[in-house]
Amino acid sequence: TERTLSIIKPDATRRNLTGKINAKFEEAGLRIVAQKRIRLSVDQAQQFYAVHKERPFFGELTEFMASGPVVVQVLEGEGAVQKNRQVMGATNPKDAAPGTIRAEFAESVGENSVHGSDAPETAREEIAFFFSGLEIVG
Ligand code: GTP
Ligand code: MG
Repeated sequence: TERTLSIIKPDATRRNLTGKINAKFEEAGLRIVAQKRIRLSVDQAQQFYAVHKERPFFGELTEFMASGPVVVQVLEGEGAVQKNRQVMGATNPKDAAPGTIRAEFAESVGENSVHGSDAPETAREEIAFFFSGLEIVG
């Protein structure tokens, strides 16, 4: 089965929404097989989002990701990458389908409550960024 990296972003941990968000993943059949609450430094956020470094919002994005605790987790299930992105909804909450995490909880395109890997290869890299093999228990 496939695995993907999920991050519950600082806007959501601040509003005490981690349980409500994870209920959505579990209801969709995704299993949380690794999980930790951490605080990223700006430097770590820049490393994680390095693919976006030329984008105009890079500074805002990385400052935001370092602005409070995040919950990083590995979700497992059939088609986990795509399924996670379906449950998350579109990047901009204004475009997110009803019932999705971003439709229900996101505050703006920047403070949009969750991150999810965009492809299986990216998922492998992003999981390795945060977790060792021993920390993932399927
Ligand atoms: P992630 O799962 O977080 O990667 O979101 P995504 O794949 O739906 O979006 P994308 O990879 O294109 O952008 C990464 C993140 O950058 C988004 O989740 C937003 O938090 C942020 N972002 C994207 N567009 C904007 C923008 O126009 N303004 C700001 N401030 N942030 C943005
Ligand atoms: Mg992305």
